[in-house]
Amino acid sequence: MLVSAKEMLTKAKAGKYAVGQFNINNLEWTKAILLTAQENNSPVILGVSEGAGKYMCGFKTVADMVKAMIESLGITVPVALHLDHGSYEGAFNAMDAGFSSVMFDGSHYGIEENIEKTKEVIRVAGERGISVEAEVGAIGGEEDGVVGGGEVADPDECKSIADLGVDMLAAGIGNIHGVYPENWKGLNFDVLEQIQEKTGTMPLVLHGGTGIPEEMVKKAISLGVSKVNVNTECQLSFAAATRKYIEEGKDQQGKGFDPRKLLAPGFEAIKATVKEKMELFGSVNKA
Ligand code: 13P
Repeated sequence: MLVSAKEMLTKAKAGKYAVGQFNINNLEWTKAILLTAQENNSPVILGVSEGAGKYMCGFKTVADMVKAMIESLGITVPVALHLDHGSYEGAFNAMDAGFSSVMFDGSHYGIEENIEKTKEVIRVAGERGISVEAEVGAIGGEEDGVVGGGEVADPDECKSIADLGVDMLAAGIGNIHGVYPENWKGLNFDVLEQIQEKTGTMPLVLHGGTGIPEEMVKKAISLGVSKVNVNTECQLSFAAATRKYIEEGKDQQGKGFDPRKLLAPGFEAIKATVKEKMELFGSVNKA
């Protein structure tokens, strides 16, 4: 079922678990994540960055593929199709194309402009039952050419944005996209606690889920994080499994070059990673 992310995240916040956002890149990725959600009776959020959207021939292709796949695979768990780090124009384009949830990332604007633009996205999304994620304090690392400085969000600014009526709020707490550097200082739980205090029941979003130690993820969830984004980790699992298949020469045996065979180990690897994350986040059997 394609739904907005609002209800699943409200439930997650109340139940002290988190729903995973897993970014998709193609048909195999989407199928692997949807099937894993269904097998584990877990709600799920499919994340699509603007770059991945372009790669998959535009938001409409993605939305139509996801809707058709939900139907043909008989997926009954709640699924949200979410624009990840959307620009202002991108947020409207994704809503027009049929996405059920959008992130407008205005963290690189000044707080006033971030507020004005977020308000307009909320107004249009609200008319259509689409959920909205906003961001305060850029998430570090690079994602699709958007480079964030790894800031720690100002809890008062978080409150100003939360009060606009967004459905979920991403706040930088020292997290970064991609693999963490060896000298990473870890998540800033003091700031997370302050943000949680100021924003109350607002589901908080932890970006950069790849490589955060399990204990830190659990602690973040206990402090109000209700959505954890994972992208790089599925890419690494997929690449490692595909590499193994080729290094073992399996693509050269029989019809091992057939993409349905060649991509199968990577597909299974994504499934295993997603399952592991759903167990860690506590979303299994919460559909
Ligand atoms: P990772 O690629 O570090 O898992 O981050 C994903 C993310 O935050 C998507 O918005």
